[in-house]
Amino acid sequence: MNYDNRPIGIFDSGIGGLTIADGLIQLMPNESMIYFGDTQHLPYGDKSSKTVQRYSIGITNFLIKNNCKAIVIACNTASALAYDILRLKFPDVKIYNVIDPVVAEVIKTKVSKVGVIATRATIKSDIYARRIKNFNPSIETVSLATPLLVPMIEEGFHNGNVSHEILDAYLSNEHLQHIDELILGCTHYPLIKDEIGRYYNNKVRIIDSPTIVAKQVYSDLLSSEMLSNSKEAVYDFYISDLTESFEASAGRFIHYKNIKLNEIKLWDSP
Ligand code: DGL
Repeated sequence: MNYDNRPIGIFDSGIGGLTIADGLIQLMPNESMIYFGDTQHLPYGDKSSKTVQRYSIGITNFLIKNNCKAIVIACNTASALAYDILRLKFPDVKIYNVIDPVVAEVIKTKVSKVGVIATRATIKSDIYARRIKNFNPSIETVSLATPLLVPMIEEGFHNGNVSHEILDAYLSNEHLQHIDELILGCTHYPLIKDEIGRYYNNKVRIIDSPTIVAKQVYSDLLSSEMLSNSKEAVYDFYISDLTESFEASAGRFIHYKNIKLNEIKLWDSP
């Protein structure tokens, strides 16, 4: 068995992708990681494909220059809009998105109707419905853009009256009725998973990505003999625009206690 102790690179438009980093750290404590959150350009969910692709290519270049052995796109929007182009541009690097492992999980189960909530860009791409249909045309996928949820979560408004009202307004939408499962198609949403489950009286399976994606990355690195056997994992967390509020809220997205965000500018201009 061979090992590879280089870090895993992870990126998101901001700090929501820390939920994916958390899943990876829980499952693979030996892996070092470099996280990059593009807070300078947040949110990606309202941007065009071209713009999200340009930022994603810049970040992937940065992570590869920093010796990453694999890249995890810890953002649904970038996974929907930029995964294919990253695969083309960086054919020699392992690149994982957060959508395919979740789709693989959904099609394993016997369901007839699946809901997806996500950013506007992810919903507009229709990626979940297209992928699910490819594997199982009999599953009906219904989607709803829920753009207020990211700022709501970032401002710490979850598990309270505000989130209750907003979730009620979204989840009571006619499209999201009588579903068997609900995919949380945004890496911020694991923070409101339980609250959403309660909305459905815990009768609908709520699927978020951190554990599912971590298992996929683990099994692929294992079969490629690229896991780390280092005794001491090193974590570096970078964001492109550091503010007090990001520093204050980062700890809510990840269990790792010593998180310290560092600013690094990949772009000269906005
Ligand atoms: N983390 C992003 C995602 O998973 C949402 C935040 C954004 O719009 O940039 O789609």
